[in-house]
Amino acid sequence: MNEKTVAARRTAKLDTPTSLGEKATRDISGALNALLADFFALYLKTKNFHWHVSGPHFRDYHLLLDEQGDQLYATTDPIAERVRKLGGTTVRSIGHIARLQRVLDNDAEYVTPLDMLSELREDNARLVDRMRETHNVCDEHRDVATASLLEVWIDEAERRAWFLFEATRHGETPGR
Ligand SMILES: [Fe+2]
Repeated sequence: MNEKTVAARRTAKLDTPTSLGEKATRDISGALNALLADFFALYLKTKNFHWHVSGPHFRDYHLLLDEQGDQLYATTDPIAERVRKLGGTTVRSIGHIARLQRVLDNDAEYVTPLDMLSELREDNARLVDRMRETHNVCDEHRDVATASLLEVWIDEAERRAWFLFEATRHGETPGR
């Protein structure tokens, strides 16, 4: 391949076939990529807490967070591929994720188990809010397929928040 061909390919438009239009591609891809960064960030935070949790409920919390981490990670590929189907490009590196993520990292040396669960519950609740906002963007462009995927991911995030909520309530019971 000569230099000219390489240069042309580098700058070529990604002409993925989609009938949604350029504005839809831009708006929905943008919203989905920010969500993707949040899913990666929350995945790693959930695994961080899975690895570092301690105390009398260790086994329960350790296993719960592993399950939730698996679910978060499993969502990343469908989000990224949805962006590509829409004709957009998606995240390319950890650095790219860090620039887009809205979920805050927690690099603290020690976090109590209850603080871990509360923080994750809050992060999942915020994720639900942002997915609902993205659902609105999809509705504006009549992108029913992305909207339908989001409905499942919202339900899953609400389930994670529910489990985290019940587990933290347990910890507040007097005398425990
Ligand atoms: Fe593990």
